[in-house]
Amino acid sequence: MAETITIIDDRTGKKVTVPIRDGVFASTALRELDPDLRMYDPAFLSTAACASSVTYIDGEKGILRYRGYPIEQLAEKSTYLEVAYLLLNGELPNAEQLKKWTYDVTHHTMIHENMRKRFVDGFHYDAHPMGMFISAIAALGTFYPESKEIFTPGALDKQVLRLIAKVPTIAAMCYRFSMGLQFVSPNNSMSYSENFLNMMFRLGDDHTVDPRLTKAMDLLFILHADHEQNCGTTAMRVVASSHADPFSAMSAASSALYGPLHGGANEAAINMLHEIGSIDNVESFIKSVKAGNGRLQGFGHRVYKNYDPRAAIIKKAAHDVFDVTGKNPMLDIALKLEEVALSDDYFISRKLYPNVDFYSGLIYQALGFPIDMFTVLFAIPRTVGWLSHYNELLKDDAQKISRPRQWYTGVDQRDYVAINKRQ
Ligand code: ACO
Repeated sequence: MAETITIIDDRTGKKVTVPIRDGVFASTALRELDPDLRMYDPAFLSTAACASSVTYIDGEKGILRYRGYPIEQLAEKSTYLEVAYLLLNGELPNAEQLKKWTYDVTHHTMIHENMRKRFVDGFHYDAHPMGMFISAIAALGTFYPESKEIFTPGALDKQVLRLIAKVPTIAAMCYRFSMGLQFVSPNNSMSYSENFLNMMFRLGDDHTVDPRLTKAMDLLFILHADHEQNCGTTAMRVVASSHADPFSAMSAASSALYGPLHGGANEAAINMLHEIGSIDNVESFIKSVKAGNGRLQGFGHRVYKNYDPRAAIIKKAAHDVFDVTGKNPMLDIALKLEEVALSDDYFISRKLYPNVDFYSGLIYQALGFPIDMFTVLFAIPRTVGWLSHYNELLKDDAQKISRPRQWYTGVDQRDYVAINKRQ
């Protein structure tokens, strides 16, 4: 069977034959038929905007791999910092590389005092932590003027290291500001996830972090580290394509993540469970969703037409957390919701399954995070995914500044009308 596609322009009879590789063909070949011909694909449903070797997803089969490694194996055997190294470098680190990487990240966790005292203190007391996080990332870049030197050897690596190391510090700082709590400095003797939980929740000298909760946090970080060309990563790539510095690009990516159709869904999902309130209300809630009154939050995915493998891992891990914290009373409502939805033809026919956000909020809540921190918890580990794509884009010769074309549907040329002659 020929691995080509032939496109015929019936207006002119011209045709072009293009090779298909891995199920992809270069649609720019259409220019040979007519340079003014455009393809209309408003949400990139059939468009691959880049070639990438970071993450593989098979949405029909529910497969997710980072750099070829199945997410289930990484979730079971790896750590977040090891996965971060893998995503950035393409290979798992050896013992020496991991030691150096861990040391480097651990020793870049501090942030400039002005960030806390002058920048964060300027927010209103009830500012949403994700709004603070987005602005703090952009502001952080101004402390490193050399962050603009993205093509100077080694310079970008330093910013990548800074961002990965500092995002937990920034996230915890935003939380403690909103709670009116004193800021807790990073602790170099702790692991990435333990340090984050310590900066978040430390209340006195005798505070300790339960290792089972640290493990759960680390697992959640692994599961959220990358997810190929989602809305946030696409924002990262589009901004990076103008050669903006990684802080500015990441602020844009975080903004995209904030939306309730994307990372904001974990917040929306737990709010939905609270709204449902009891197992008895599940059936009527599903009925109202089917009638068009809102969506089942944490359900459905552009790519997964099967169970999101991350949701399956989180669902299992939730019990380990609940063993320590006690069961989240919302769990039973979530389980019932899933059961009812997965046996309902509306959800079956549309291939709507729980996504990563359906169960993650239950763990976050059990760990003690307030609901408005949930999307920040997604942004912390996604930092490495965004930066891996940023790096990849800058090295890709096929990439140019992102500049889609449009289908103009407005009025044709007309003459200016004086104000006293307008209707
Ligand atoms: N609840 C009810 N119906 C849904 C849901 C849902 N959660 N998701 C999709 N549908 C329905 C749509 O109404 C549509 O039905 P129709 O064909 O009768 O019009 C059909 O399923 C297809 O939906 P689309 O919106 O075309 O699917 P799309 O791929 O554009 O959207 C999205 C994907 C945004 C994730 C969607 O499923 C959704 O809104 N889910 C809820 C929000 C959510 O959980 N987002 C997190 C996604 S994971 C992440 O970003 C980390």
